[in-house]
Amino acid sequence: MKLIPLPVLPAEEFLLMLTTRIKNIKPSATVSIAAKAIALKETGKDIIDFSVGEPDFPTPEHIKQAAVEAIAANHTKYTANNGLLPLREAICAKLQNENNLEYHPHDILVSNGAKQALFNVLLSVVQPGDEVVIPTPYWPSYPEIVKLAGGTPVLVETDESAGFHLRAEQLEAAITPATKVFLFCNPVNPTGAAYSKEQLDALADVVLKHNILVVSDEIYEKLLYDQLHFVSFAALHAKLKERTVIINGLSKAYAMTGWRIGYAAGPQAIIEAAGKVQSHSTSAASTISQYAAIAALQGPQEELETMRLTFQKRRNAIFAGLQSIPGIRCAKPQGAFYAFPNISHFIADSEHFPQIRNSVDFANFLLDEAGIVAVPGAGFGNDAHIRISFSTTLDQILKGIQSLQTLLKK
Ligand SMILES: Cc1ncc(COP(=O)(O)O)c(C=O)c1O
Repeated sequence: MKLIPLPVLPAEEFLLMLTTRIKNIKPSATVSIAAKAIALKETGKDIIDFSVGEPDFPTPEHIKQAAVEAIAANHTKYTANNGLLPLREAICAKLQNENNLEYHPHDILVSNGAKQALFNVLLSVVQPGDEVVIPTPYWPSYPEIVKLAGGTPVLVETDESAGFHLRAEQLEAAITPATKVFLFCNPVNPTGAAYSKEQLDALADVVLKHNILVVSDEIYEKLLYDQLHFVSFAALHAKLKERTVIINGLSKAYAMTGWRIGYAAGPQAIIEAAGKVQSHSTSAASTISQYAAIAALQGPQEELETMRLTFQKRRNAIFAGLQSIPGIRCAKPQGAFYAFPNISHFIADSEHFPQIRNSVDFANFLLDEAGIVAVPGAGFGNDAHIRISFSTTLDQILKGIQSLQTLLKK
């Protein structure tokens, strides 16, 4: 039989097939700079990577062992869509013991990472005509997921001078009759800001005055510095728990990013709806990872503290280093593993830095001139900053700071 080759469609034809929904979505902030860094690394150039969005530690040994045992015991089939009951029970126990929150396993949806948990929840509660209030700088996926759900992100600029904390008056002013959700994270990626109980209480008062939902992303909960104490938004008031969905997961706390385990905890009706979304996309999270997650939540927690203290030392080094560079201003990170220095001085100094007109130019300048990879603030909704991750060794941090000092002295 003679095969007749089908005509090849030109690329433009495929572009015409794309939906408006997907054309409105921005690619990840890290993609282009990361591609350039990889290309440079391949040429043998020494790179200092300050772009990493995950702990650089290996997953603790007993968690890995639990996964090995799960495979050996043939726990290799699908689980219930919302996750293994013992895992949801372990999550409830964690929420009770650490956050003083009482949930039932049917209030929990286990997903493939916190990102999918967030996606499932937002797709369940946001539709065209709905507004979602998001403090800026934001984690890049927030506005994009809202847009995918057909909603409108309402971005509210937080003040650098106020430590990038959203103030109650700002939240109040952003709320309209179309507001459905207030979506925020604490501690914050990319600024490293963390909210005190008093600051959260002030935001809670506004939420309680209005008929809106809160989606509280608490993925960096365990990474708080200087004796700061974490308070979950849902734990502030019984009435708030009724209208809050917590997003959390094991990626950052247990150095388990690749295992893809996150969860949502909230009102049963919303959790069930979010479960429906998941049931028609990925189904349950990996069974093996779920067994590992049970071991993580129920096993020894000492390694978490060791990691936190290591991050705190690195935070101190990066903060002191950035402060020593004339022209750079930086709020002290209180949580997560990011600093978000202001680089507007270099954007404005066209005499000495003519090639730098925005945060993307600045990041490219660092990469080209010093082999330093940082993420432009533009991707987080603030073009006067860059994000520096201190999820790298102290040695690399000190080396990077020294290069920045030399480079920016020009
Ligand atoms: C603020 C924030 N939320 C959620 C996530 C997603 O975490 P996961 O790896 O569990 O999907 C991240 C990961 O970078 C994050 O920074």
